[in-house]
Amino acid sequence: MIDLHSHLLPGVDDGSRTVEQSVQVLREMARRGITDVCLTPHLRANETVDAPPLRHDEAFAALRAEAPDLPRLHRGAEVMLDRPLPLERERMGRITLGGSRYILVEFPRLVSTEAVTNALTRVRDAGFVPVLAHPERYSACSVESVSYWRGLGTKMQVDATTLHSTQARGQRARQLVGAGLADILAGDNHGDERSIAGGADFLVALDGDQQAELLTVRNPGAILRDEPLIDVPPLEIRRTWMQRLRRLLGGKA
Ligand SMILES: [Fe+2]
Repeated sequence: MIDLHSHLLPGVDDGSRTVEQSVQVLREMARRGITDVCLTPHLRANETVDAPPLRHDEAFAALRAEAPDLPRLHRGAEVMLDRPLPLERERMGRITLGGSRYILVEFPRLVSTEAVTNALTRVRDAGFVPVLAHPERYSACSVESVSYWRGLGTKMQVDATTLHSTQARGQRARQLVGAGLADILAGDNHGDERSIAGGADFLVALDGDQQAELLTVRNPGAILRDEPLIDVPPLEIRRTWMQRLRRLLGGKA
């Protein structure tokens, strides 16, 4: 599996605090079958001008010196689009996912549909492919709005651990995957236990082996190779299975 969203660059944001903490998470990722991980520290739009900041380069060098061989480390950022992004092509190329055209973006939770539409359109018109982090978190998220944003060329990254949440965001995440509107899953690990592997397990338990393969292996791999993504077929997420899964997960869901 390939996880393109993580906060494991140590000590630079609200994710992992130390090299040791990140190394521990990376070892666990390797144990669960994750071959590649992209380090995507939070970056505000106005910080992208001189990105990546020197402290990120230093943190990366420190982590790489101690990190295991697997998962392989790639660099990127999670860019907050609460204000217009200075879309200078050469500089932007330094904060995309693994140096591809794909750029991971996020918004404040209460953002309007129109603001998302405008920001995603600007990124696309500058020649990049926006990958919207955890669309299920936003109040503006619905099957209709996400269909529209995908029509603008945006790819959708659903958080793997949210798939078995009983909160509204869990319901939205399942609706997106159910409707075939998710393009990749990711762990969004913050130096903790969140894992893309749990999302793959969830889908396989619902007979979604094909969806799991596309969402956790093939499409994230295509992003790193800067290739087009494959549409993921809809998946019926049956309520009875949800109940069984919740019991299996011991109430964590
Ligand atoms: Fe994140």
